[in-house]
Amino acid sequence: MYVVLIGRPGVGKGTQAIRLGDELKLSRLSTGEMLRETIRTGGDVNQQIAAIIDGGDLAADDVIMKLVENRLGEPEFKNSCLFDGIPRTVAQAKALDELLARRNAKIELAVEISADPDELVERILARARIENRADDNLKAIRRRMDVFRQSTEPILAYYQERGVLKSVDGLGTRDEVFARIMSCLKDH
Ligand code: AP5
Ligand code: MG
Repeated sequence: MYVVLIGRPGVGKGTQAIRLGDELKLSRLSTGEMLRETIRTGGDVNQQIAAIIDGGDLAADDVIMKLVENRLGEPEFKNSCLFDGIPRTVAQAKALDELLARRNAKIELAVEISADPDELVERILARARIENRADDNLKAIRRRMDVFRQSTEPILAYYQERGVLKSVDGLGTRDEVFARIMSCLKDH
């Protein structure tokens, strides 16, 4: 099964994807983590990507789709994947559909995790005190929220039209949000 998790920065995509992956034996593909890993490996091009991401803007669609195509070729993604942070634009949603169609597969479920942006800023700032993500500062967080509204929100309509969109409330405890997502998957 191929499932997409969609939601604002800090809403819990990564947290929930890890737990869902354990529970359902699905591998997770996180483009944010892949990009941070690419940046850690250095190089001029990677520094350009770093500048974009650190400011809270999106990496180019073709860069992302190349990374995803390569990664999806790995055996753990042969029959299933939990996508965390991809797609983020309608162009990526279309490209991902095409990529999966070539494997006779498709996105069966897109789960939107929603929450008020102000709550999420607090969550991310709390994480910033523990971890060291370059884009976890107030200026970049605000930009990430704007980019979500402008570029990523339109993919909700894209999946709605295909009849695969479900939405859950992302506020509450991690356990509560997890139970809501599991119930979407069971109903599916
Ligand atoms: P990405 O790494 O995907 O970051 P993001 O979308 O901004 O989201 P986060 O990872 O910050 O939050 P999350 O939803 O995973 O929440 P988490 O579980 O960590 O992308 C980073 C950047 O890379 C993008 O801005 C872009 O530049 C680039 N990029 C990535 N993909 C791209 C793509 N496809 N195209 C172009 N560019 C791309 O939770 C957040 C915090 O809250 C944690 O501390 C967690 O412990 C806590 N928490 C989680 N759930 C709860 C809860 N229920 N209650 C209280 N706290 C909670
Ligand atoms: Mg994440």
